[in-house]
Amino acid sequence: MAEKKIGNILVTGSVGQIGSELTLALRERYGNDHVLATGRKTKPSEKLLESGPFEFIDVSRKHTIEEVVDKYNINYIVHMAAILSAVGEKNPLLAWDVNMNGLHNVLEVARKREMAGVLIPSSIAVFGPETPRDDTPQETVLKPRTMYGVTKVAGELLSDYYFHRFGLDVRGLRYPGIISSETPPGGGTTDYAVEIFYEAIKNKKYTCFVGEDTRLPMMYMPDCLDATLQLMEADISKLKHHSDFNVTAMSFSAGELAAEIKKHIPEFAVAYEPDFRQAIADSWPMSVDDTVARKEWGWKPKFELAEMTKDMLEKLGQKHKAGQL
Ligand code: SER
Repeated sequence: MAEKKIGNILVTGSVGQIGSELTLALRERYGNDHVLATGRKTKPSEKLLESGPFEFIDVSRKHTIEEVVDKYNINYIVHMAAILSAVGEKNPLLAWDVNMNGLHNVLEVARKREMAGVLIPSSIAVFGPETPRDDTPQETVLKPRTMYGVTKVAGELLSDYYFHRFGLDVRGLRYPGIISSETPPGGGTTDYAVEIFYEAIKNKKYTCFVGEDTRLPMMYMPDCLDATLQLMEADISKLKHHSDFNVTAMSFSAGELAAEIKKHIPEFAVAYEPDFRQAIADSWPMSVDDTVARKEWGWKPKFELAEMTKDMLEKLGQKHKAGQL
């Protein structure tokens, strides 16, 4: 399949945790005017508004995507809009509608216009209780117990279908929990690993919604941005997989994360009060094998627990001092 040049990019979900930073990274790389940021209803940040175009769309209504795609002459879509695992369990029908119909709409709009490609993230949520939890392999059992996971498995399959059946260059990676200091995550199970930093800085105490021994794969935002851009720009002739790359950077338990933060803030106190999200976390891998991503497109993370913790506390500490938290 011949690779087409990426021209104008549409980012859905650009107001979200990953989208907000990915949009800025894409603008730096492809030019501010070539990256259209979109969201459904959340007010975008000044940074997003000032650095390039922004429009409101609803991915579950196809014509709203078509309108902006035609207006801005888009030929590549980075589809970040999704309902995450915890919100998805509170409202499974909404998760199905946004995640499945939204995805199908994006693929159809891209197929009809013969776009250069689409990037659609997947997640560790594709795995389930029957999946091996240590060093979870690339090819393994995909029987998730959350609606979010169900839509991500179906999304991977549908994306690969569009590649094989229609020749649309769709790529995707299974993000682990993403930790960042710019935009808080919204409604996921791995959110505790971000909230804990905000609370450590603001209040020096945190009540964690999963137990101390809960261990999940994680990644710091700079690595998440690198992974996403690297996969987008990888040489297609080297890719044997397309929409389902395992990627990871580190794995730690909630207790180990708290201990690492305590090295910087000794008085930091953590209590554990697991809620419904514990069962979701227990159905996901503790660590992930990402050898295939390393082999096919050279994936290699930079941040481990210690460096990530130091950087998060510095960044949030500065924001706190400036009265921005
Ligand atoms: N961070 C996501 C969630 O917890 C996983 O992809 O739902």
